[in-house]
Amino acid sequence: MNVEFIGSFPDLKSRPERELPEFAFLGRSNCGKSSLMNYLMERKGLARTSGKPGKTRLLNYFLVEDRFYLVDLPGYGYAKVSKVMRKQWWGLFERYLLSQDRPKAILHLLDSRHAPSQQDKEMSTLVQKSGDPFAIVATKIDKVLQRERMENYRRIIMDLDLSANIPFLPTSAAKKHGREDILSWMEDLLAGADQDV
Ligand code: GTP
Ligand code: MG
Repeated sequence: MNVEFIGSFPDLKSRPERELPEFAFLGRSNCGKSSLMNYLMERKGLARTSGKPGKTRLLNYFLVEDRFYLVDLPGYGYAKVSKVMRKQWWGLFERYLLSQDRPKAILHLLDSRHAPSQQDKEMSTLVQKSGDPFAIVATKIDKVLQRERMENYRRIIMDLDLSANIPFLPTSAAKKHGREDILSWMEDLLAGADQDV
């Protein structure tokens, strides 16, 4: 995969001028957004990952195959971030998710070990309100026993009040699982709805 890091942008206004479909990676801090992106792009260390939550702070744009962007969003729900900063981030998410000036789709990531947090639920409401195509991506499934996975997936679907047609994609960046399903979801959107991704 030919991938180019385009840059980090503090707000919507400063985004890359060139308009292409965007796939945004949204999720709680430390849920595995950057790791999943590296796994998808097959480029270790391209998106910065960290054991410390709160690593990604800006809108990070990666250009893939000169066709679309992957956008690494800051993680929400990081306890050590100040109230002011949290409010700023929430505003940024809201503006980004509800913006309709450019075609986009959302990958909402949830750590498969945990029940959705209050913020996960609020974010999901916002995503559903955006009207954009989105998928739920369950991360770190290598950390959950096989026999417990279904129950955890069900809990996520129930707690986020997701309708049955929303794609649910289990993944593990550590064990390299789930890449094909995500890429084919993306390809379907790119192929189907030129204007509508
Ligand atoms: P922020 O940028 O802070 O929002 O975090 P993030 O969502 O980008 O998470 P990141 O990819 O940095 O990963 C957080 C931690 O989880 C790191 O220690 C990763 O190594 C670990 N991790 C990510 N994906 C997986 C996975 O599939 N399995 C396991 N076991 N660990 C993972
Ligand atoms: Mg990150």
